Amino acid sequence: MKVILYTFSGTGNTLKVAALIKKYMNADVTVYRVSAKSGNAPDASGFDLIGLGYPIHAFNAPEPILKFAESLPEVAYRRAFIFKTSGEGLHLNDCSSQKLIQIVRKKGYDVTLERHVVMPYNMIYRHSEAMAKQMWIYAKAYVEYICKELEGCKRENVKLPFYKTWYAPLLRVIEQKFAHIHGPLFKVNANKCLNCGKCVKTCPQNNITVENGNFKFGHNCVLCMGCSFGCPADAINVGIFKFWKVNGSYRLEELAHDNSVQFPLVPNYARGIYRLYKKYYREVDKVLKNAGIDVNAYKV
Ligand SMILES: Cc1cc2nc3c(=O)[nH]c(=O)nc-3n(C[C@H](O)[C@H](O)[C@H](O)COP(=O)(O)O)c2cc1C
Ligand code: SF4
Ligand code: SF4
Repeated sequence: MKVILYTFSGTGNTLKVAALIKKYMNADVTVYRVSAKSGNAPDASGFDLIGLGYPIHAFNAPEPILKFAESLPEVAYRRAFIFKTSGEGLHLNDCSSQKLIQIVRKKGYDVTLERHVVMPYNMIYRHSEAMAKQMWIYAKAYVEYICKELEGCKRENVKLPFYKTWYAPLLRVIEQKFAHIHGPLFKVNANKCLNCGKCVKTCPQNNITVENGNFKFGHNCVLCMGCSFGCPADAINVGIFKFWKVNGSYRLEELAHDNSVQFPLVPNYARGIYRLYKKYYREVDKVLKNAGIDVNAYKV
């Protein structure tokens, strides 16, 4: 089976999940990064299964993956699935793919499965290492399970009733319009900047330019946070989101092997902010248990 994963990712989480699918799936898997820099995408008609991957932004699929979906060729029939990442396992995130599904369905793609993998936040607050470790280990176990579902051609109803989706279109318009208006408020602190050029190279929207040594952020921003998250000097000021900025990648694979870091962090009696994650992990635990998958095996 030939599989293509068309993946949009701002700070790398969704690409990490795409890489896990490639690792665990018994198929010939190609990962294509959706970005203004990527050039021509491989033609969907050359693949048996199409995966569409994205990070949830304001309970929605971000603009680049929606635009990319609009550009997909029409096909007579093609099986497709969606994989999405987010910082919370909240069911408010469940509706995020409805627009994407609507776009690709019209073109002949049959979305048979949608799966949500919780990963460490790239915005709002930085997770502790213990939490990041739990997220990564569970992501690995869950993705291996998802691959089995895909290999077995599992089909599930992906259409949600109106009462579970009504808020998404409004938030989508607000977030997308706001990201463009807010874009030029990103600034580089010249005292900290190392002039490494990483932010310019990373931006999936080609939204950062340098003129006479001055960084300019344009209106093409989609608030993916790739530039500020990846800046090695934490030199990017993210406008009105400064209190929500997260800088620096999580050392996920290293944490999985680090026995000095607590695991699991979210037991059944979890308190405070971790209560929010309890439901998600209980649900994933149940699925993995039924499938005979031991999450502890992914620590090594
Ligand atoms: C602008 C923005 C909006 C976000 N909105 C949500 C959200 O509605 N729900 C959620 O659980 N996580 C939200 N997140 C967190 C991301 O979905 C999460 O960190 C994701 O794994 C990032 O994936 P990436 O590294 O592939 O970009 C948001 C992040 C950003 C930058
Ligand atoms: S990534 Fe950071 S340090 Fe590098 S050029 Fe951009 S702002 Fe400067
Ligand atoms: S400017 Fe930064 S936040 Fe905006 S699209 Fe580019 S990388 Fe993402």
